[in-house]
Amino acid sequence: MIRIEGLKKSYGAIKALDGIDLHVAAGELFAYLGPNGAGKTTTIRILTGLTRRSAGDAWLGGFHIEKEGLKAKKRFGLVMQSINLDQELTVWENLDIHGRLFGMSAGERKKKIDQMLSYIDLIDRKTALVKQLSGGMKRRLTIARAMIHSPEILFLDEPTVGLDAAIRRRIWALIKEIQEEGTTIFLTTHYIEEAEFLADRVAFLDEGRIVTIDTPQALMSRTGAWAIDHMDAGKMKTQYFQTRQEADTFITRQKESYTLRRVNLEDSFLLLTGKKVG
Ligand SMILES: Nc1ncnc2c1ncn2[C@@H]1O[C@H](COP(=O)(O)OP(=O)(O)O)[C@@H](O)[C@H]1O
Ligand SMILES: [Mg+2]
Repeated sequence: MIRIEGLKKSYGAIKALDGIDLHVAAGELFAYLGPNGAGKTTTIRILTGLTRRSAGDAWLGGFHIEKEGLKAKKRFGLVMQSINLDQELTVWENLDIHGRLFGMSAGERKKKIDQMLSYIDLIDRKTALVKQLSGGMKRRLTIARAMIHSPEILFLDEPTVGLDAAIRRRIWALIKEIQEEGTTIFLTTHYIEEAEFLADRVAFLDEGRIVTIDTPQALMSRTGAWAIDHMDAGKMKTQYFQTRQEADTFITRQKESYTLRRVNLEDSFLLLTGKKVG
């Protein structure tokens, strides 16, 4: 559904993307995980036609992003990191404008807008001005707007940045539901738990390059199952173990304080890149 080959983007001397290759299957929820400046937004901007690529190719639903740009554009919905709703218009008007942009008839728009508003639980806020909504509601509305024209692919650029934990979980549930309806989802994040919880597969992105791509489970099991954070000559160190028994053996020899915990994706990212994601 999404195919990227040798994609590069330079801004002067900065290599924002340095040769990206990946393939996202139909119906998959793919997470693009990396620290700030890794190239996540640049990738989404190129795929959605907002920024020109320096080299390489990409296809959405089989259509080349530039040579068949108009057809490619109808395939996706886009939720950018910043909330770009019209604050002075109502909830309904914001969605209606989007439907018109995609050439939907009045009847189609009415039906789809009501359906999406029920879906995101904002039907009773239909006539409210966007500026009266909470941050979580605005985020849900940007997702609904991206889905108005029934796209096959949904791009989400850091969809839960700045939201508190409870609202973040609500957005996660909405994203899962959209996937269950059959939509292919490409999500960028620098939240480890978000990738771990949502993604079928994760790409680790660092300095414009993909370090590895795999399922969250496989990435974690490559690292080990258990981690022990411990003090070693005044420094915090982490040791990884495949079994609880090996971890226990280590603990019996441990003189200073330690914490035993399950391995997470942060550990895998750190081992592969030498960096923390968040
Ligand atoms: N318009 C731009 N002009 C110059 N440099 C840019 C521009 N957009 C992004 N960059 C640079 O490209 C790199 C990747 O940025 P970005 O894709 O926004 O990363 P992320 O979304 O992963 O935080 C960064 O070094 C950033 O400073
Ligand atoms: Mg970004």
